Amino acid sequence: MLDMARLDVTEVFHGISFPGHLHTQESLQQAVEFQFKDTDILIVSYPKSGTTWMQEIVTLVSSRGDPHLSKSVPNWVRAPWLEQYYFAEVLKASSITPRVITTHLPHHLLGRSLHGSKVKVIYVSRNPKDVVVSFYHFHKIANFLPEAGSFAEFLNRFLEGTLHFGSWFDHVKGWASQTATLNNLLHVTYEEMSVDLHGAIKRVSSFLQCPLVEEELSSCVKHCNFSNMKDNKMVNYSLIAEEILDHSKGSFMRKGKIGDWKNTFTEEQSRYLESVLRSEMQDCNLEFVWEER
Ligand code: A3P
Repeated sequence: MLDMARLDVTEVFHGISFPGHLHTQESLQQAVEFQFKDTDILIVSYPKSGTTWMQEIVTLVSSRGDPHLSKSVPNWVRAPWLEQYYFAEVLKASSITPRVITTHLPHHLLGRSLHGSKVKVIYVSRNPKDVVVSFYHFHKIANFLPEAGSFAEFLNRFLEGTLHFGSWFDHVKGWASQTATLNNLLHVTYEEMSVDLHGAIKRVSSFLQCPLVEEELSSCVKHCNFSNMKDNKMVNYSLIAEEILDHSKGSFMRKGKIGDWKNTFTEEQSRYLESVLRSEMQDCNLEFVWEER
């Protein structure tokens, strides 16, 4: 299914870089023009923000806590990526309802297709310090991403917005600011899921108009905790070929913790990121409480 010859290729679309073995100009163009159904559920995130976790939560909520689907179908089939080239084929072959679609596209590229639709959008965000550390480690195992270099270099690229999938700031500003105007958008943070998974799942289930009884909720919590997901081949990406993900260098389900950035950032780097964050976010009314959670 994957085009190995394109492992080193970067596809640039509207100024944003994407891994070429999964994205083409055509697949990206089709993504931004996609015609959603009102019943669709769309999971949106910047990489390493808890996307896979939310895919699992949505699958389990829709299955009322029954883990059968999450243990038998890979997450990229039950919640396929809108911008990847196999998307249309997977969606056509799938009989899963409602359709669950995942994307890393920023709002300025996808907003137009969503305009006026009733798609239920779940936006997942995470402390940018933990995002950049997680992304850094992922670059070391992902052969389809550019060399990570030193953490200092990587952090600069993150803050400049030149990593694959573009600027974290633009992504969060673009999507999170929609919560004020759209009532079909739910913003959930990685930190909220970590501190109160039960409460986060309850919030997702009521947003999806799929209220669960306590027993079903507890089953969702059990099956999407870190250790169960780490052991589940359908979500831990161990099924991906060694040429694409070098499993000997680390695992996708790495630490699953809040605040792991403290093991990598220097104090100076932390202050620098905070100053960029303040200046990038000064024109929007968004407030994030990462550490206290
Ligand atoms: P770490 O690298 O910090 O461990 P994404 O799915 O958006 O790519 O995000 C991947 C990050 O989410 C990784 O973070 C991964 O370990 C974490 N993650 C995935 N499932 C999780 C879970 N059930 N509990 C906590 N963290 C989880």
